[in-house]
Amino acid sequence: MSPAIQIRDFHHVVFFTGAGMSAESGVPTYRGKGGIWKHYDYERYACQPAFERDPVGVWEFHNYRRELVGRCQPNDGHRFVTACEQLVPHVTVVTQNIDGLHERAGSSTVHELHGSLWRSRCDTCSFRATEFDAPLTEIHCPNCRAFKRPDIVWFGDMLSADVIESAMSALRNCDLLVSIGTSAVVYPAAELPFVAKQSGAHLVEINPDDTPMSHVYDTCLRTTASDGLRELFGPI
Ligand code: OAD
Repeated sequence: MSPAIQIRDFHHVVFFTGAGMSAESGVPTYRGKGGIWKHYDYERYACQPAFERDPVGVWEFHNYRRELVGRCQPNDGHRFVTACEQLVPHVTVVTQNIDGLHERAGSSTVHELHGSLWRSRCDTCSFRATEFDAPLTEIHCPNCRAFKRPDIVWFGDMLSADVIESAMSALRNCDLLVSIGTSAVVYPAAELPFVAKQSGAHLVEINPDDTPMSHVYDTCLRTTASDGLRELFGPI
């Protein structure tokens, strides 16, 4: 079967990814069957009030996730995204994922809208760290001894203005946006593909299911991340 798109026809490709991108790696998605928020109440584990109430409990949840994700490997989809860098002048990944799998697959430019499971920070002083221990045993700031917190955008948190601006700049300048594995229900991330649409980019959605944003896309492939990328571009 001939590919739906010739990737070499494009100058700047943005891959806009969500939890479905990492599903084939064994990382659970958030919603749908087996979704994290079906089993864990975000009000207990993934918001600032929960952290202030019970920092140890919140860290137990994030350490469980660090251990789980630490055992997972990038999948063919992540590798495909990285390989595109050999074919297109500019490739940018804008991801809602906190698992670090795009970076582990070798992608050069990754904007993590929702932060990273592997970073922590202290909001009492300005300490920041990237640590890959799974679990992370030292959860206190080495400078001021307050509890560090995961550097993740929890429910109710603002996204980093710098990260949003970098992502918007890529979206304004791309000629192809490929959205992969997001339910498109979490804002402001969900509406970012509009920016690329308004700039005249071609939009492709890869997701086994319809999403509330499907109508915005020029092409929808109802399949998994790695199969969708293969179908879209052919072998790379
Ligand atoms: P969701 O769990 O909401 O949605 C995952 C999407 O992936 C669904 O639309 C599935 O149909 C699709 N999917 C499942 N398996 C797939 C596969 N193998 N290939 C392709 N797609 C597949 O995840 P997100 O949209 O990423 O926020 O969720 C957005 C945010 O909500 C997350 O970043 C997280 C969560 O609360 C934070 O952690 C801050």
